[in-house]
Amino acid sequence: MSEAVDQAKQAVGYAAADLVESGMRVGLGTGSTFVYVLDRLAERMRGEGLELIGVPTSEATAARARELDIPLTSLDEVDELDLAIDGADEVDPMKNLIKGGGGALVREKIVASAARRMLVIVGENKMVDRLGATFLLPVEMMAFGRRQVAAELRKLELEPQLRQNQDGEPYRTDNGNMIYDCKLGSCEDLGGLEIEINSIPGVLDNGLFVDMAEKILIGDESGKVRVVD
Ligand code: A5P
Repeated sequence: MSEAVDQAKQAVGYAAADLVESGMRVGLGTGSTFVYVLDRLAERMRGEGLELIGVPTSEATAARARELDIPLTSLDEVDELDLAIDGADEVDPMKNLIKGGGGALVREKIVASAARRMLVIVGENKMVDRLGATFLLPVEMMAFGRRQVAAELRKLELEPQLRQNQDGEPYRTDNGNMIYDCKLGSCEDLGGLEIEINSIPGVLDNGLFVDMAEKILIGDESGKVRVVD
């Protein structure tokens, strides 16, 4: 990653962490931008006595939060979250998102749904005119019956490709499932498509986050952050 891209991620991650208030229950996202949120939250806990409790969206985030002594809980222990902060792979002008590049989309959507507000942190490069312009849409499905799921996705003209790990084996999510990365053509009804994909038996969820984000924080390579409300 170039230093400038990294600087944008740090700026936007720190800016989001600075919006967390003491006592909040916070959904902790996943990805290379979100790690900066964790760093800054830990710094604020040590420096200003910030108190929070987090619900992680992945094993990777949980592990990093534990290293930083950020207290964690699960969704079974709280009624709702005050705020969810997370990255995204694409953001359209209506603040709809594609997520799941890191494979955590199912937990990310559950955690974001449990939160009163969702804050999204991205670099300028993630802003697109329409979802699917630069990134494939991840669909998490059970390994059992995955051929049938692929056939149904093809009927929706989504051209599924099985995600693989570095050894060429099917990638497994934290939930033990697999992912089809799908080509998303132009779509007038993202909410309808989200439901249609999820109604295929064996599909857990997909990476379309429609009407969920309240604010988008966008970092640029000079370290400036702008906010889209
Ligand atoms: C994880 O499954 C994803 O939804 C991430 O939030 C998304 O891929 C953004 O990741 P980066 O911050 O690493 O680009």
